[in-house]
Amino acid sequence: MTGELHSGAAVACANIALAKYWGKLEGSDNLTAVPSLSLTLDALRTMTRVTFDPLLSQDAVALDGVAVQGRALARVSVLLQRVRHLAKVELFARVESKNSFPTASGLASSASGFAALVVAAAQALGLELAEEVLSSLARTASASAARSLFGGFAALGAGAQAAERVASGAHFPVCMLVCVTDLSPKAVSSTDGMRHTASTSPYYERWVSESPALFDRVKQAVLERDFENLGIATEESALLMHACMMAARPTLLYWTPATLEVIRNVRALREQGTAVFFTVDAGPHVKVLCLPDTADRVKHALA
Ligand code: DP6
Repeated sequence: MTGELHSGAAVACANIALAKYWGKLEGSDNLTAVPSLSLTLDALRTMTRVTFDPLLSQDAVALDGVAVQGRALARVSVLLQRVRHLAKVELFARVESKNSFPTASGLASSASGFAALVVAAAQALGLELAEEVLSSLARTASASAARSLFGGFAALGAGAQAAERVASGAHFPVCMLVCVTDLSPKAVSSTDGMRHTASTSPYYERWVSESPALFDRVKQAVLERDFENLGIATEESALLMHACMMAARPTLLYWTPATLEVIRNVRALREQGTAVFFTVDAGPHVKVLCLPDTADRVKHALA
């Protein structure tokens, strides 16, 4: 495989965890300390083309037309290296990626980004890898990316190599509205934030011990199409995770006044009788879970 271009392209969707992952197993290759379960969002996409090119002397990555450097580039190269190793190829690659949403602002761009990258790179090198292997490769780059290989609802167990499909989107059609509260890049990456939380938050152990039960509740609610219990467990998972981060020393506070304002409005809508729930990731945006028949009304009320 030298002398010619090898190109592949893939699209992957972001996912938002309903049962959150926060924290890694110490000394592991990005294995998660808690189980997580996510909903794939078909509107938030990353489109990636990977071209292995004999003329390149290093990997070159562009995200939304802007060259990626430093730590972010290294992270992409490490994943490309794993794929090259499997294909027994030594060519460097050009990666061109586009997001349909603001990059690095807590909208899970790393999840769809690394999922699209691994699929496109494997395709470019002619590797036919099982979904489980692709998910495991994506996980080494970013654990949430392991879940983006599957549509609908996907789970990544504590310490699991790969994610797995829990149910299709058609099994339980729910909507998630993404309330973008701020367009600036997030201040602390998930990876750094988790490390800081695990080593300084007095609530971290409690978070790890409580998470499996929350995961079970979320999973059961998905399987039983129980929206009320899904929403309640989803909010509890997000609040427990943020409480744990906020208690880190110094605090890890992703919320802004707009974050709280949206949460307050979601709760007010619920008090008025609409089944609507929120979750927040490592950023200021609020993701709002509702049923398809109320989505327009909820969107209007929150706008
Ligand atoms: C709050 O998967 O971005 O969105 O594995 O270090 O890349 P790394 O972290 P990442 O963390 C996601 C954290 C979260 C919750 C979740 O998606 O489960």
